Amino acid sequence: MAQERIRQLQNMLRRYSYAYHSLDAPLVPDAEYDQLYAELQRLETQHPEYITQDSPTQRVGDAVLADFAEVRHRVPMLSLANAFEQQDVADFERKIRELLGLSAQEVLGYSVEPKLDGLAISLRFEAGLLVQAATRGDGEVGEDVTHSVRTIPSVPLKLIGAVPETLEVRGEVFMPRAGFLRYNERMRESNGKLLVNPRNAAAGSVRQLDPKLTASRPLAFFAYGLGECSSELSDTHTGLLTKLKEFGLPVTALAERAEDVKGLLNYFERIRLARDTLEFDIDGVVYKLDRLDYQRRLGFVSRAPRFAIAHKYPAEEALTRVIAIDVQIGRTGAATPVARLEPVFVGGVTVSNATLHNFEELARKDVRLADWVVVRRAGDVIPEVARVVLERRTNDSVAFVPPSACPVCGSALQKELDQAVLRCSGGFRCAAQLKGALRHFVSRRAMDIEGFGDELIEQLVDRGLLRDPAQIYALDLATLAGLDRMAQKSAQNVLAAIEKSRDTKLERLLFALGIRDVGEATAKALVRHFGKLSMIQDASIEALQTVSDVGPVVAQRVRQFFVEPRNVAVIEQLQENGVRWTEQDQADAASLPLAGWTIVLTGTLSTLTRDQAQMQLEALGAKVSGSVSKNTRLLVAGESAGSKLEKAQALGVEIADEAKLLAMLAHYASTQAN
Ligand code: IVH
Repeated sequence: MAQERIRQLQNMLRRYSYAYHSLDAPLVPDAEYDQLYAELQRLETQHPEYITQDSPTQRVGDAVLADFAEVRHRVPMLSLANAFEQQDVADFERKIRELLGLSAQEVLGYSVEPKLDGLAISLRFEAGLLVQAATRGDGEVGEDVTHSVRTIPSVPLKLIGAVPETLEVRGEVFMPRAGFLRYNERMRESNGKLLVNPRNAAAGSVRQLDPKLTASRPLAFFAYGLGECSSELSDTHTGLLTKLKEFGLPVTALAERAEDVKGLLNYFERIRLARDTLEFDIDGVVYKLDRLDYQRRLGFVSRAPRFAIAHKYPAEEALTRVIAIDVQIGRTGAATPVARLEPVFVGGVTVSNATLHNFEELARKDVRLADWVVVRRAGDVIPEVARVVLERRTNDSVAFVPPSACPVCGSALQKELDQAVLRCSGGFRCAAQLKGALRHFVSRRAMDIEGFGDELIEQLVDRGLLRDPAQIYALDLATLAGLDRMAQKSAQNVLAAIEKSRDTKLERLLFALGIRDVGEATAKALVRHFGKLSMIQDASIEALQTVSDVGPVVAQRVRQFFVEPRNVAVIEQLQENGVRWTEQDQADAASLPLAGWTIVLTGTLSTLTRDQAQMQLEALGAKVSGSVSKNTRLLVAGESAGSKLEKAQALGVEIADEAKLLAMLAHYASTQAN
């Protein structure tokens, strides 16, 4: 009986685990899995004689190794040649045609896959059971890491179906980004040691003598090829990947087939665009000739196959030196330390400045003048200093001390309660803040003054011709035409653009004023609620908080802004200088697109919290209710929705999933924006 139930539980858990980790399609809720797992653990404790090595409870062993044993690979683990340019890819195919004696017409066909950035591992299965896991080592001899690789949830301990007697699967162990971030978050809280990047993390976690350590790291595995195998599985590589998937091995869903060089480059580009959104780091894509008979005929040169090539993306990290640490002041006065660097090519561009975010971050990383640093630029994000190479630091270096005064205007830099940010207290007296505020004021989504560019702002502020945004509306032709590189005609154009912006909407003006944390959406919500500028100016913190997406912080900021006499003066000046905006007597809630809708949210949403969804729906005029009734107009059902969903179905209420909700929000948000 017990033995029977143990087998049954093992099989169920294996199936659930495979669906969860490899197919991304859970079959049962986590709680159900946990319950079955606990039952299995209990039965196995009572009947240790029925425990088998492939039981889901046996992933983490007790034994701590003294050293790694050597593993001689029966089929060597090879490396890949690299392509960096399109030409390299074209050459790769031309060479293949030449060697195989194929004409230019013949379609070759490739398996195209992401190049995962982790650690290459060979898994050996005998009679379907995982018996050994080894690192690549020098390609001939690697290290036995069976005990730690067993702990990786997506590595099957037992394969499914009619599996070859001997099957060696090659693949990559890696740390998904989310797991990496979560792990480091936990370490930061407990003052533990941080992992440097997902690739090093994967390698370091596998090469652990204590399997418990590996088990605590969020690792995953993808299979991408074959080592020794006792029977023929397929005549193409894509067919092989399908087979491996059928055996219960995880294969990336991003693998595809491409026909020719055009298809290869198209894949390269598509994956490049998706790169930032992937769940794991990649450093390129791999192209493999699909037909295995062609692969065998082509063979190898210097440890790399002729039939495959890695097409690499530009490196996202590079080494360089810090030549200065400057402090930049933004439009709200926030002081940001910036490292000036010896120019270095990284992520496809030359970088000579990198942000250090704020002074706490700078202190944590301890970046110093003349330090060697790793600069990171991933996708289109701002380059940042990832870390200092301490081994290269000279011992006469001194830690950076944050300034106490604004480097631009000399006003005191102040630290706000509970914030890492230092802020210049100079307001518009600080040229940096003034320039930033002006850039924001004239920008397209604010007052939209066309042609009022950075260079113009620089000159006007540096010559003392502009001291606040209101003075823009007092500029005259003579002043503008007298500036450097400003012809009569351009000066006239700028004046015309200023003139055109005089008639505006209140929400634009409110956004243009640059109140901290008041973006376009908040400005709009305030206007919708209060209708008139004077009402917003006079509103108490409590009154402000009754607006749909205004919380205590934003309410405080708005209040702070309007009690400041300087700001009141700017608004008066704008009016005196002829800036006009439309006002409403009363907020017109009935005109909102979802006015009259009662919406119920249930289940878990994956891209936003329920509060966020509620806020956005309310901003569009909907009433969000906690229970379903016949008055409910729409039920939004997230993951694992329960009784509310059933009730809504029974009442015939319209039901939307998360994707539909997002589409709806995006649709109405865009109609609102106009
Ligand atoms: S195939 C005989 N496919 O890249 C060819 N390798 O630079 C063996 N890698 O050591 C490799 N993703 O660790 C292949 N889809 C993929 C890969 C991949 C990552 C790694 C692997 C290999 C290295 C070669």
